[in-house]
Amino acid sequence: MKEEIQKQFLARFGKTEAIYASSGRINLIGEHTDYNGGFVMPGAIDKCIMAEVRTNGLDKVRVYSMDIDEYVEFGLNEEDAPKQQWARYIFGVCREVIKRGFVVKGFDAVFSGNIPLGAGLSSSAALESCFAYAMNDMFNGNKIDKFELARIGQSTEHNYCGVNCGIMDQFASVFGKENCLIRLDCRSLEYEYFPFEPKGYKLVLLDSAVKHELVDSPYNKRRESCERVANTLGVPSLRDAEMADLNAHKGEITEEDFKRAEYVIGEKQRVLDVCDALKRGDYETVGKKMYETHEGLSKYYEVSCEELDYLNDIAKECGVTGSRIMGGGFGGCTINLVKDELHDAFIETAKKKFAEKYGHEPKVYDVIISDGARRVE
Ligand code: GLA
Repeated sequence: MKEEIQKQFLARFGKTEAIYASSGRINLIGEHTDYNGGFVMPGAIDKCIMAEVRTNGLDKVRVYSMDIDEYVEFGLNEEDAPKQQWARYIFGVCREVIKRGFVVKGFDAVFSGNIPLGAGLSSSAALESCFAYAMNDMFNGNKIDKFELARIGQSTEHNYCGVNCGIMDQFASVFGKENCLIRLDCRSLEYEYFPFEPKGYKLVLLDSAVKHELVDSPYNKRRESCERVANTLGVPSLRDAEMADLNAHKGEITEEDFKRAEYVIGEKQRVLDVCDALKRGDYETVGKKMYETHEGLSKYYEVSCEELDYLNDIAKECGVTGSRIMGGGFGGCTINLVKDELHDAFIETAKKKFAEKYGHEPKVYDVIISDGARRVE
């Protein structure tokens, strides 16, 4: 990928200078908890967005997306926002850097990536983090700390892309570390690296290839439900609520909002239980909690879909240790914790059964937990 990007850059802009990358992410457990001030357990993966970037001495950005085969130019003022969604991520990052009092000057860029789009692996966070990292390195002597780099990506989603996401994806993309999951407290941003090399197990993603679109989607509505309930309970966020509080206010909350909050409060505890289980090397408990999360996301939070429920059922039937829908939902992947000896048979069965029902096989990705944002050259 690197050579191809540099070749394209040379052909379009002459001379190369620096190349940056940032990763997609998985999340073991802790879904839809980030914007509720709760805990998450993501890790960066070995699939990334990579960009060659060089200052151009102009007051505009010129950027070519190799994968979409589109070239876009834009200025750096608020009114210069490009129309193309992919370019808005880069524009948004530039604007958010500038708004924080840091520097962005005109630059040229060519980028490409190997993170499957719409699979729930946060290709957009990887794009944001890659450019946030580049802007910091090229124009700001790396003065912007990593927390702020993650927030720049998150604000880009909020202010330029219409998704009121939490901090998990950008945090994982910026802070990712080889072979480690990150237990992140999304309220304080305290984090801890958890070495994750489960002996005798593999993490496998099954991509249903059902596309989700979080812009204008029910994602923002889920967040609104949570905020309404927190308001009714008189707490800053659902992180501060227990089931007893929720039950005490049952009469003041719609049935739908109640279910949403019930899921979030349960999930908060599940992340902590999984951390304890990981410390003991107790993968059976980890897996059990993953199934519970799936059940919650499907029946209470209602962000799953038929295809992903089916993949979850197949995992259960095959005796897979843990399985659940991963990421924002409305399509995408399941994440599966599978014993080594079951791995091949599970994948074969899942492919066959899914294809029989939906006419195409799910895509399979073995997960390698890797480093996050970095300068490659
Ligand atoms: C998306 C959002 C994240 C998080 C997850 C669900 O990936 O970008 O902030 O809310 O959904 O856990």
